[in-house]
Amino acid sequence: MPKVERPRGTRDFKPEEMGKRRALEERFRASFASYGYREVATPTFEHTDLFEMKSGEGVKQQIYHFKDKGDRDLALRPELTAPVLRFYVNELSREPKPLKLFYFGPCFRYEEPQKGRYREFWQFGLELIGPSGPEADAEAIGVAHAALSATGLKNFHLHVGHIGVLRALVAATGLAGKDAGEIFRRIDKDDRGLEDFLAERKVDARLAGAIAAVATHKRRLVLGDEEGAPRAVEEYFAEALTAVKPGVSTEVFRGVEANIARLKEMLGYLATYGVGSLEMDLGVARGLDYYTGVVFEFEAPELGAEKQIGGGGAYALAELFGGEPVGSVGFGLGFDRILLALEKEGRAPAVPPAVELYIAALTDAARVAALELASALRKEGLRVDVDLMRRKLAKNLDYASGLGAPFVAILGEKELAQGIATLRNMKSGEQREVKLAELARAIRGK
Ligand code: HAM
Repeated sequence: MPKVERPRGTRDFKPEEMGKRRALEERFRASFASYGYREVATPTFEHTDLFEMKSGEGVKQQIYHFKDKGDRDLALRPELTAPVLRFYVNELSREPKPLKLFYFGPCFRYEEPQKGRYREFWQFGLELIGPSGPEADAEAIGVAHAALSATGLKNFHLHVGHIGVLRALVAATGLAGKDAGEIFRRIDKDDRGLEDFLAERKVDARLAGAIAAVATHKRRLVLGDEEGAPRAVEEYFAEALTAVKPGVSTEVFRGVEANIARLKEMLGYLATYGVGSLEMDLGVARGLDYYTGVVFEFEAPELGAEKQIGGGGAYALAELFGGEPVGSVGFGLGFDRILLALEKEGRAPAVPPAVELYIAALTDAARVAALELASALRKEGLRVDVDLMRRKLAKNLDYASGLGAPFVAILGEKELAQGIATLRNMKSGEQREVKLAELARAIRGK
């Protein structure tokens, strides 16, 4: 019979891998909880409409969707912001604000698989619903940064932009639909053909100049009171305003000014979350189309092509799903990529051995005693395994060593008669006799 392979772009996880993943999950959960976020879960599949409403018909190219037996058009979720906002509009809108929610779960995208890019992958994410000021923006970016730092990851960069600024400029061109989408795409990809495209579409040269200038206006900024830092921040934004002014009406300019003032205020708060520096980049447009305000991305440069480990921003979705408008900002973190980046840095979580004690019986008579001893020690909170294959001692020791068990308890005739076990320290090879009642303490080293 031919073997059944797993579907393209999916993975199986060995126990060691799962150990690392669970340990990493713990770090994220603890981090989000420390900021008062609570976990929610939504279904893995949704009505396809939910994702089409947010991203248009084109999204069908990128997702798994199918008809079920009741002729419903369903889709495996490609992300969780739309599901969480659907949940919010339908059931949580009366909850006290701010509503601080986080989630963890598998997402599915129909992509060309490669290292770090899968058809099934896991996201940790968070949505802050209610507030819409610069404090909320700073909180979302700050919590993402803190959670990434709490994983132990060192080499990652934060890029921050403002889609509201870009939208105002693109709206001023009078272009909409596909043409506007193309402008955003070219801005996001740092496409050199942006200016040619604007010229072809007969966009006023000064406005086109302003768009091109903003799209490429990026600089690493240090936050906090360090010598020269506040002045560099002021300069960066002043230059952005100078680039925009000649190309737009007073009204558009005022809008850009207000967004930039808000960004500056946000940077002031961000330092308190431990963000020491960031790349300010007004050309960050993000692929997803529901963002309205601040947008941000995290990159782990060592990952190469798939270096984006997270992203998010402020967005408006509640009204799209039939609710009242509400402030909302959040992010999604690529769990698999973060683990890959940690491995590259040699900082993946250490996984404790599967068992703390392995028990080997030397005789048939000792088998029941071994099982009883295992039960008693498990009740004391130890992780214990017992030989189930009637193996000889040498084989049992090999197996226990393969499991990484730090101790093996050996039970034979003599041990049964005296109510003891021979306890072998697997690291040193030293063996000593220990009363059964004292085994737990001996293993814990107390
Ligand atoms: P996203 O940028 O599409 O944002 O995805 C977030 C992260 O998921 C990415 O930065 C990347 O690390 C990871 N990711 C995406 N696709 C794959 C893949 N095929 N394989 C492995 N990892 C992948 C969102 O999903 C938004 N919902 C974020 C958000 C939340 N915005 C507001 N709230």
